[in-house]
Amino acid sequence: MIIAVDGPAASGKGTIARALARHYGLPHMDTGLLYRAAALNLLRMGLEPESEFAAARACDIDQIDLGDPDLRSEAAGSVASRISAFPLVRQALIERQRHFAALPGGAVLDGRDIGTVIAPNAQAKLFVTATDEVRARRRWEELRAAGLDARLEDVLADIRARDQRDSARSAAPLRPAEDAERIDTSTLPVEAAIAAAIAAVERRRPSA
Ligand code: CDP
Repeated sequence: MIIAVDGPAASGKGTIARALARHYGLPHMDTGLLYRAAALNLLRMGLEPESEFAAARACDIDQIDLGDPDLRSEAAGSVASRISAFPLVRQALIERQRHFAALPGGAVLDGRDIGTVIAPNAQAKLFVTATDEVRARRRWEELRAAGLDARLEDVLADIRARDQRDSARSAAPLRPAEDAERIDTSTLPVEAAIAAAIAAVERRRPSA
């Protein structure tokens, strides 16, 4: 079974995807990490983030350790969100994601375009959302827990800018697949969000 989990930044899609992978014993891929790896590569190579060709060169990400803590930095996230709008970048990273989705036994992938582009044939598709204020507060709390001194209003402005870029781009924009189940986590504690996700997958399981 392939489970596609899409949604905007800090919606809770990563937490839900990891929990689903554990619950169903499936491998999990956080596809945002691939875009972040390309961004980090680009920053380290000193290339120009405005150039689609430079960004495409940075997609040779084999030398980036996907456990590198720098992938989680604001700089990598911000460049990732810019270069992910380039068709050449999306094209360069698509194969690895499709290959993962095709693993025998299935997989869980989370991102922005899993249900629409990477695995349109996924049996279960979730679109995880939360209000921008709730998402900004979550991201701000994560930053503070990591010892970073950020202002809530700056984090909110960044989340809104990212949503805008992700939704407005012409290449694989962030949008729910027609057959996706929506989960709004704005007022849900983590355990309740996970339970809602499992219930949604159960409704879509081939044997259900
Ligand atoms: O949750 P957050 O937006 O901070 O980060 P992420 O999920 O790690 O993704 C980083 C950036 O990569 C996003 O802002 C998206 O623009 C892009 N991305 C994408 O375009 N398609 C995906 N499947 C995953 C991420």
